[in-house]
Amino acid sequence: MTREEWLKISAIMAAGTMLPKGLLAEILADDEIRASDFGKDFVWGTATAAYQIEGGWNADGKGESIWDHFAHKPGKIHHHETADVAADFYHKYESDIALMKQLNIPASRFSISWSRVLPNGTGQVNQKGIDFYNRVIDTCLKNNIEPWITCYHWDLPQALEARGGWKNRDILGWFEEYTALCAKSFGDRVKNWMVFNEPMAFTGLGYMLGTNAPGKFGFNNFFPAVHNTTMCHGVGGRTLRHLLPKTAKIGTTFSVSHTEAWKNLPKNDKARRYSDALFNRLFIEPTLGMGYPVKDLPALHHLDKYIKAGDEALMPFDFDFIGLQNYFRVLVKKLEIVPMLHGINVPAKKLGNPITDMGWEVYPQGIYDIIKQFAAYPGIKNIVITENGAAFKDTPENGQVHDPQRTKYIQDYLKQILRAKKEGVNITGYFVWSFIDNFEWDSGYRPRFGIVYNDVANQNRIVKDSGKWYAEFLKK
Ligand code: FCB
Repeated sequence: MTREEWLKISAIMAAGTMLPKGLLAEILADDEIRASDFGKDFVWGTATAAYQIEGGWNADGKGESIWDHFAHKPGKIHHHETADVAADFYHKYESDIALMKQLNIPASRFSISWSRVLPNGTGQVNQKGIDFYNRVIDTCLKNNIEPWITCYHWDLPQALEARGGWKNRDILGWFEEYTALCAKSFGDRVKNWMVFNEPMAFTGLGYMLGTNAPGKFGFNNFFPAVHNTTMCHGVGGRTLRHLLPKTAKIGTTFSVSHTEAWKNLPKNDKARRYSDALFNRLFIEPTLGMGYPVKDLPALHHLDKYIKAGDEALMPFDFDFIGLQNYFRVLVKKLEIVPMLHGINVPAKKLGNPITDMGWEVYPQGIYDIIKQFAAYPGIKNIVITENGAAFKDTPENGQVHDPQRTKYIQDYLKQILRAKKEGVNITGYFVWSFIDNFEWDSGYRPRFGIVYNDVANQNRIVKDSGKWYAEFLKK
């Protein structure tokens, strides 16, 4: 029995006898969760990414990114959609930030588009791009919203992809130049930085499976991209630290999913371990000085070809916080013929729990399990949940969007985060993905993750019920 259930039963038993009326009502009033339960220093926010919301894909001197390039090719994106306009944040940032303030949101996580500030990836700076982010940052601060910047959320300049992109080791220098520009341009006002958004996602989907930009597939693309990305974790972290030694809190973010062996069968456990090593451990462990998890995923020995003398000393970086991004768990079943992993993920619809519009299982305990797994690493100082949320089919009705499933999803996941926090894990923040409906990569505009609804045809915003709930929750 949980503590909440126990409390309820004891309250019911005692009802009418000894409990003061107010207390009884409070105990019976469902197990409501409040922002204040997480402590007064806990950071609350919403998250977005440049390509997914900005639009203005070639406005004011912006260069092409790999996502512009990829989405403009026929057949890559659901319904041939592009984020050329997206949620038009490039033009609507002022009213959107005002709306954030109206919703009591204290922090906004967003990313810088590399090709907006360096159209060719290196060299010539586009001042108008810098000006745009200055306006966004200043507007946030004016509204008492703390900006949290992700340096890289998947939109590499196409000019650099033409030179090999993440496969080319020269990216260590390109990335240093870019992160230095971000630090010098915005570091006087921005205190919270994330080097990457989900390295496993952008290397896996972009360089192994080819379903995301730049659409490359196979091990010969994936492994060099992985190693250069790992090296750039160090490069980005050190560059920010060097230029902003006193003020910056530097983190990075990882996509994480708790892995379980299908039906708990021992025969599925090896494949589970492989999945865990690839999806959860591959990028964090080198940053913690543990090297790549080759022992638990033998295929990672392919990385050896790309590791140079001295690299191992440059892979670790002492991050101030680790961002975890969780949506679902993964159940793994052995299937020998699958390269590298020798297993498959059991489809969410077979698991008996509700599923989201992405086809992802709703399983709140999964976030607790994966937080505990990460909390066990020595060397992680604190954890911020930098993304969590859900896509459901939303339809406006008389100017309102009723999305009880999303509110419940967020509440139930938050309860599990609080559970881990109460057990002593140092979790210091939570960001809903996402502030507004946006361009969900190869799925286009179909999945709606926002707590604010957006109609791309007319760019009208409607605060969904979940957004109204979040605004109220943040007051308590
Ligand atoms: C994460 C991405 C984010 C968004 C959500 C739904 O993997 O970081 O951009 O697409 O998934």
